Amino acid sequence: MFGMKNVPLLLLLLMQLLRAGSALDNGLALTPPMGWMSWQRFRCITDCDTYPDECISEQLFRRSADLLVSEGYADVGYEYVIIDDCWLEWNRDNMTNKLVPDRKRFPRGLNVLADHIHDKGLKFGLYQDFGTKTCAGYPGVIDHMALDAETFAKWDVDYVKLDGCNANVSDMAAGYPEFGRLLNETGRPMVYSCSWPAYQSGSEQPHFESLKRHCNLWRNWADVQDSFQSVMAITDYFAKNQDSMQPHAGPGHWNDPDMLILGNYGLSYDQSKVQMAIWAVLAAPLIMSNDLAKVRPEIKEILQNRDVIAVNQDPLGIQGKRLLMKQNIEVWRRPIEPKINGEYSYAIAFVSRRVDGSPFPISFTFKELSLFNDNIGYIVQDLFDKNNNLGVFRKEREFKTRVIPNGVNFYKFTAL
Ligand code: GLA
Repeated sequence: MFGMKNVPLLLLLLMQLLRAGSALDNGLALTPPMGWMSWQRFRCITDCDTYPDECISEQLFRRSADLLVSEGYADVGYEYVIIDDCWLEWNRDNMTNKLVPDRKRFPRGLNVLADHIHDKGLKFGLYQDFGTKTCAGYPGVIDHMALDAETFAKWDVDYVKLDGCNANVSDMAAGYPEFGRLLNETGRPMVYSCSWPAYQSGSEQPHFESLKRHCNLWRNWADVQDSFQSVMAITDYFAKNQDSMQPHAGPGHWNDPDMLILGNYGLSYDQSKVQMAIWAVLAAPLIMSNDLAKVRPEIKEILQNRDVIAVNQDPLGIQGKRLLMKQNIEVWRRPIEPKINGEYSYAIAFVSRRVDGSPFPISFTFKELSLFNDNIGYIVQDLFDKNNNLGVFRKEREFKTRVIPNGVNFYKFTAL
């Protein structure tokens, strides 16, 4: 039936089939994405007359893009400026069925904003929802997936967060991959963030193989709220499920514990370090949601700590785990570069869940920390305090540290 002249066509078909079955290969998010998103701080504030500086509007995203650059965040890697929910008109265009950005708050459409973000050297992200409506009730993609993917590409979107409100969870196994395929078909590379597992019931295992194949990152669990309690509940979920989750993270595909809330109302200075350290160990996307004009200098310093960010962005892309808990001190550990004679280096965070007032002294053996570079050991550096070099840790020594309540000591153990 197929003559020789059809060989190229056959090859093309074969290649397309192969592509459909292999891992998501858009070449994006080789390290966890970094950026800024509106939701946690600005939610669904749409009243620009009363709250001109806080409402979801072109002005908020222009300002945030400007501040990412002028305040130094872009220099350390924060890149995506992402509009979350509440950017749409309540209805699609009644002639074309296209999505319409709110006419009052985005009067010039999204291309003008995308251009501004791109001119700043940043990238543009946009929220939508797999269901009939977004979580806040604006039109979702379900009946217009191809049109919406195409529209996103025309708006020069670089990152899509696809939420899962107002949908049947049973439709997601087909629907999330389908929207991803449509995004890829536009020919515009777009990071694809899937909220699918966050909508599954606790008893159902996420479809990690499918997530890995079709999404660059996925929200595993509940929304972060503006409190330490919420941050720690998320870390507990990650620790409890780490054996099933951890193997699926890697370059191009990440578990997502949700936004960084540093710079808002809920975290103390030391609790801010805790979120930053655990997010680095977890190879989590570093997507801040805060008012960049109001982040206090000492919190900005945590957000911009290059050594901690280097752990988060470690090229090996291995997600860390909660290794152990001893006397209410948790040990979070992530293998990182350099790997010397087959032994990894490690980032290790000692996180205190204690609330008795004074700093708590504790020591660990080489073996307790699962460190095996027996011959020479590790050089230990404090990631939050460059001047605090702890010297060499060898197997015959105890590793001593003293952690303040709700605080963290975060070290790099470089294999020698
Ligand atoms: C869900 C998501 C949040 C945010 C809101 C918007 O709750 O998990 O991250 O996008 O919807 O309505």
